[in-house]
Amino acid sequence: MTQATNPRTWLITGATSGIGRELTLQALENGDTVAALARDTSALEELAQAYDESLLLLPTDVRDERAVREAVESALARFGRIDVVANNAGYGLFGAVEEASDAQARAVFDTNVFGVLNVLRATLPVLRAQRSGHVLQGSSVYGQSAHPGVGLLAATKYAVEGLSDALAAEVGPLGIKVTLIQPGMTATPFLANLDVAAGLDDYDQTVRQVHKAIGEMPASAFSDAARIAGGIRNVVDSPNPPLRLALGASSAAGLRPALEARLADLDGWLYVTEAVDRP
Ligand SMILES: NC(=O)c1ccc[n+]([C@@H]2O[C@H](COP(=O)([O-])OP(=O)(O)OC[C@H]3O[C@@H](n4cnc5c(N)ncnc54)[C@H](OP(=O)(O)O)[C@@H]3O)[C@@H](O)[C@H]2O)c1
Repeated sequence: MTQATNPRTWLITGATSGIGRELTLQALENGDTVAALARDTSALEELAQAYDESLLLLPTDVRDERAVREAVESALARFGRIDVVANNAGYGLFGAVEEASDAQARAVFDTNVFGVLNVLRATLPVLRAQRSGHVLQGSSVYGQSAHPGVGLLAATKYAVEGLSDALAAEVGPLGIKVTLIQPGMTATPFLANLDVAAGLDDYDQTVRQVHKAIGEMPASAFSDAARIAGGIRNVVDSPNPPLRLALGASSAAGLRPALEARLADLDGWLYVTEAVDRP
């Protein structure tokens, strides 16, 4: 089985801002090469000049399957291989499940789920041919937990988690690793880029309260994007990376009670679960 080369070649979506930008910077500082995707890559132009041949800017909308395929072809033409695929591009939709319009719900799935699938279909043939590679799937604390206001965002991240559970088992035997990246609240333009659904009064005590509380959170409650990127790089360096990586105390604090509650439901209702089987 071919091992990943050192330096590595990364393909990073959402590379111009927040976590993706930090990942791009750190990969370059580490001597790696990066194919950087975002709809508007102009924010990385200075960096591209500084890193010349090591950074390839590929203005690409992940919702556009053909554009993603072309971007992957360009990355291959420049670097010859892809070692790490960071499926990081995404945005949030905030509002009660009932408040999100059909258009808003479909739009967030288009980027956060169908965009991920576009990138997988374009890159997995490369990774399979290499019999090596690591796919980093952009999930969240909301990939396995949710609270009022994040239902649609969580739905997209749960979708990514579900497909990744199967994907990991499918591509593992082909030498490809998969890790779901689950950051908690992180200081990036994510909140500024949030789509917000129109409000119904009945959700003032739940959804609006949560929105207000998030808006009032101190800066110290948010993880640093550079440190999140550092955590992601740890997992890429590991010979035995986990399927899921929670990043930041707020991620662990959200995930643990949600996971325990699932087991409590399973165990607490096992007598009903088992009673439906044929005697
Ligand atoms: N920040 C947090 O608290 C947090 C917590 C958990 C998980 N996450 C996840 O981490 C990932 C990165 O988020 P972030 O916080 O770094 O957000 P961000 O600063 O808003 O960055 C989002 C990136 O995605 C790109 N993007 C958005 N739509 C795109 C599209 N259709 N095609 C291509 N690129 C697109 C943006 O560039 P363009 O607009 O130019 O395309 C930008 O580079 C997301 O998947 C997010 O859900 C974030």
